[in-house]
Amino acid sequence: MTDTADPFFEAYNRDDIAYGETPAPGVQSIIDLTTSVETGERRALDLGAGAGRDSIALAKAGYRVTAVDLSEMGLERINQRAAMTGVGALVTTQAADVRHFDFETGKYDAIIATTVLDHIPANDAQIVWTKILNSLTQTGLLAIEVHSSEDPGSDLPPGCNSTAPKSETAGAVVNYFPPNKLASWATETSADLRILRYEERLEWDYTHGPEHMHGKVSLLAIRKGTSPQWYGQPRMFPRRPS
Ligand SMILES: C[S@@+](CC[C@H](N)C(=O)[O-])C[C@H]1O[C@@H](n2cnc3c(N)ncnc32)[C@H](O)[C@@H]1O
Repeated sequence: MTDTADPFFEAYNRDDIAYGETPAPGVQSIIDLTTSVETGERRALDLGAGAGRDSIALAKAGYRVTAVDLSEMGLERINQRAAMTGVGALVTTQAADVRHFDFETGKYDAIIATTVLDHIPANDAQIVWTKILNSLTQTGLLAIEVHSSEDPGSDLPPGCNSTAPKSETAGAVVNYFPPNKLASWATETSADLRILRYEERLEWDYTHGPEHMHGKVSLLAIRKGTSPQWYGQPRMFPRRPS
């Protein structure tokens, strides 16, 4: 793929690879939750995996990861990083549009979508969301992030009225989520989810390009009826050291 066809080519082609190496907060929570209690093989699906900060962290935690993205440069970075950190055997990359990915029923213990449902039109995002739910196991965990209508790149208020600096890749976002939209999806009875954390916020981003502001929505959820030892993050009431 050329740099003109891939809006993320430059961001992934430079030495200082976009988005850094720290996984999204929801992904770190999934790792903390599962590595403390579960054993055996766990499978994760990382949709819009980019250059792989989430995929690599999951693989290092023992997940067998399928990383899906349209960006060949991003996938190349994932393969390089996986090899460099010794988890190459746990990471499979797939160049695909998430709208055309083959979501197998009940396959994944964790599904990650860190800012990709906002890169496709709203109707498509809802269809992919339904496929995500269908592909999650009965004890599975879900970490979703999307840009909100508070983002300075948004075509909706209040973001469209913001004078804060916007992201170098804002042009690739086509579907800014209005307040409560992701929460309403997650609380539909048919979703069969229990929300562990949900947040709509503003944040400064220093992980790529000139510093800029984002409006973000984060969802961390698990299948209803499942109760791992979740003390939240940040942990407000840590156990007293014995
Ligand atoms: C903002 S980046 C986030 C990358 C990564 N999830 C992270 O947080 O580091 C969005 C990514 O979604 C990918 N993307 C956009 N639309 C896509 C689609 N329809 N199918 C698959 N990937 C897509 C882009 O190539 C890009 O790598």
